[in-house]
Amino acid sequence: MVTESVNLPCDTSPPQRLDLVLVGRREAGRDYVRLVLDAPTAWESLPGQFLNILCESDPRAATLSERRPLHWEEGGEWPIATGLELGRRKWPFVRRPLSVSRVLRDGARVRLEVLVRRVGSGTRFLASRPVGVPVDVVGPLGNHFTPPDDDRLCILVGGGCGMAPIFGLADWLTASGLQCALVLGAPTLDEVPAVFRSAPAAAGDAAAPCESILDPDLGQVETILSTDDGSAGFHGTAIEAARRRLQDVGDDRPVALYGCGPERMMRALARLAERRGAPCQVSLECFMGCGIGVCLSCAAKVRDPASQAGWTYRMTCQEGPVVDARDVVWA
Ligand SMILES: Cc1cc2nc3c(=O)[nH]c(=O)nc-3n(C[C@H](O)[C@H](O)[C@H](O)COP(=O)(O)OP(=O)(O)OC[C@H]3O[C@@H](n4cnc5c(N)ncnc54)[C@H](O)[C@@H]3O)c2cc1C
Ligand code: FES
Repeated sequence: MVTESVNLPCDTSPPQRLDLVLVGRREAGRDYVRLVLDAPTAWESLPGQFLNILCESDPRAATLSERRPLHWEEGGEWPIATGLELGRRKWPFVRRPLSVSRVLRDGARVRLEVLVRRVGSGTRFLASRPVGVPVDVVGPLGNHFTPPDDDRLCILVGGGCGMAPIFGLADWLTASGLQCALVLGAPTLDEVPAVFRSAPAAAGDAAAPCESILDPDLGQVETILSTDDGSAGFHGTAIEAARRRLQDVGDDRPVALYGCGPERMMRALARLAERRGAPCQVSLECFMGCGIGVCLSCAAKVRDPASQAGWTYRMTCQEGPVVDARDVVWA
């Protein structure tokens, strides 16, 4: 596997459908596997963007009699299937959105890391793919995180599979010379999507850096681990650990907060940012279908002073998944 990750680009490629060969895989924690995909040398994506991935073995050999190749980017047709045919299918018909976790560059080679959490049929299928097979992706899709325009400290909070874009964001911000602190939260040590050099110690109520993370290799980036049950790192939620880190920073140092994880966690991060008066960007994990603004399944409620109700819907596959936390109407 390529381990170097530097000088991430500032532009993004237009979305395309591609067959990317799976060139590496590594189990990371109980429910996760990290996949490495070989990408075209011209690939450019930024942290927060995602791939919409087909979770079946060979779309062209599928049993759907009416299925056609997916040449939508050339103005072709989408596949059509009857309800009966769909009922017989073992794998999901709709692509599954997964973040580009990291972009790894090694000379002319570009590799994409995707962190897959096994939760249902699509992600289980993807997580079971052997090295050497092509993976059918559409991407890069969606918008991306943006860096602060000064040298403020960036605190990045990730929970569950929401850690995926946070790893790439840490790469990108540190490559730009910004100081970052990562806070990674999980219910228990087993559910942290990382490989450890040695079992990380329980740190009680100290939001201290964890030195034993081997993979992902984030270089010198300060990484604080938090577990709800206290089995490793800070005993408590990632938000509480981030609050402690902010206390240590003091009120005078400007900070920017970034987050990706379950909605409850993002809502709490938004509140923390508001109390601190800090800018905060969050990546929303809405349910998605098409990934290209057609099916309307990814709508999130956002503030809209111009509308009568004071809010409107935003399609997070296009005008997201990254949003300013102040814009979100939290459930
Ligand atoms: C922009 C974006 C980026 C994402 N990045 C990643 C990533 O990097 N790694 C990763 O493992 N997952 C990621 N997800 C979540 C992932 O898309 C879902 O877990 C996946 O679609 C589930 O498909 P499935 O067929 O395995 O499960 P399904 O059978 O469809 O569902 C299984 C269970 O997962 C829940 N679920 C399904 N989709 C979501 C969702 N979007 N958010 C929360 N719960 C869901 C369902 O409610 C159900 O309980 C991302 C989602 C979005 C919107
Ligand atoms: S996923 Fe279809 S409109 Fe966003």
